[in-house]
Amino acid sequence: MKEVVLERPGDFAEWRGVARALLAGGVAPEDVSWRGAEEGASLFGDEAPAASAGAVTLPRELLAMADRVICHRGAEVPARLYRLVWRAARERQLLARTTDADVDWLRKTDKMIRRDIHKMHAFVRFRRLGEGEGRERFAAWFEPDHRILRLTAPFFQRRFYGMDWAIVTPDARAIWQDEVLTLGPGGTRGEVPDSDVVEDQWRTYYGAIFNPARVKIDAMRAEMPKKYWHNLPEAQEIAPLLAGAGARVERMREAAVSAANPRTEKWRTRVADDLLLDDELTSLDAVARAVGGCTRCPLHCNATQAVAGEGPVAARIMVVGEQPGDQEDLQGRPFVGPAGQVLNEAMGEAGLDRRRMFLTNAVKHFKFEPRGKRRLHQNPTSGEIDMCRWWLDKERALVQPELIVTLGASALRGVTGKSASIKSMRGQVHELAGGTKLVATIHPSFLLRLPDRDRAAEERAAFVADLAWARSLAA
Ligand code: URA
Repeated sequence: MKEVVLERPGDFAEWRGVARALLAGGVAPEDVSWRGAEEGASLFGDEAPAASAGAVTLPRELLAMADRVICHRGAEVPARLYRLVWRAARERQLLARTTDADVDWLRKTDKMIRRDIHKMHAFVRFRRLGEGEGRERFAAWFEPDHRILRLTAPFFQRRFYGMDWAIVTPDARAIWQDEVLTLGPGGTRGEVPDSDVVEDQWRTYYGAIFNPARVKIDAMRAEMPKKYWHNLPEAQEIAPLLAGAGARVERMREAAVSAANPRTEKWRTRVADDLLLDDELTSLDAVARAVGGCTRCPLHCNATQAVAGEGPVAARIMVVGEQPGDQEDLQGRPFVGPAGQVLNEAMGEAGLDRRRMFLTNAVKHFKFEPRGKRRLHQNPTSGEIDMCRWWLDKERALVQPELIVTLGASALRGVTGKSASIKSMRGQVHELAGGTKLVATIHPSFLLRLPDRDRAAEERAAFVADLAWARSLAA
């Protein structure tokens, strides 16, 4: 019996190195016993297997799943994975046998890990530590079910590229500092402060926009399982807010600040299917449905409905706005209000056909302040834009436009993840990762706000010129 001791549980590279050597040495799964380092000593126990035959070729899909599944805490996982690769090296099409017990276990365990990853993406909350050398520093404590930090760190790296941060878990920590990502040993909750200014603002904000008339406790629980609540600043507010919800509904009824749109009543009972896995979001319709159930940030509480992007999946140009306005919120479609009208006309003059483009927004819910019977637009914060990039990225991945036109600064941040002025970005073609071109221009609502007619005409002409230029670039 060959004894293998893994020093770093959940480390795919270590497991793969051992599995490769065992496969090459022709060691059958029943002749190997796998243990974690805490249970024994060195990597190969007594002796390493002698490599013999040439390299073994395995399906890429199997390796991708093994990379995730090895993070599962089950003690049997390294051995079961080895049995799978041993069998896959001998049985072609093994993965296609859905009734096979090993394959069934692999797929189910993989799904479990992907859900855990998904939850971590959604529920990590950073606490601000301060500022050093011009970069803000944040830290977060998180307890995933499995050892998934290695798999989730790149997501946070992309999402929070511009700040320094650490995510501490019981098994490992990820540190992103000066644009370098390192993984280190696990830690304790005490290493991360309990709250900060950002958190207090978040709580106050959540409390301020919490709409007691729209409470769906089951959806909230499904979306935000209780086990994560202690790390979520907004969750501390849920109990007291719920307790006072009845009284607030009554007060709201009396005050009647903003009536709900009767046509979109169904959205009140929306289910939180935002937790669909990435590979279940394979069409724009699926993304739109999932966006409809999004409760990732507090903006969903007061909006009538989420507004997903619209247009053909084969569109070459994607136009990104800021967020739905009042009309968009009521109708559930982007750019159907006054700014949409300005955009439609400008696109027409620029020779762009709206029906052939994909129109969407950086933020999918309308953010507003009730004023009497009116709802006044409010700009989304960088945090809200960053939170909603989740959806924009999904739309981008499906449409794969050749060129993106961003309208205004929020859209620019939504697409690039960085805050930059329109002035500094306008008039140049930028290239995004993957080769997509980016043209930045003003938001059409800017034209609606200009009091001076001559200036408005000038700005409008420049806007049309930007759109025409974008058309020529994507042609
Ligand atoms: N403004 C936007 O940015 N998007 C819309 O969909 C409508 C107005």
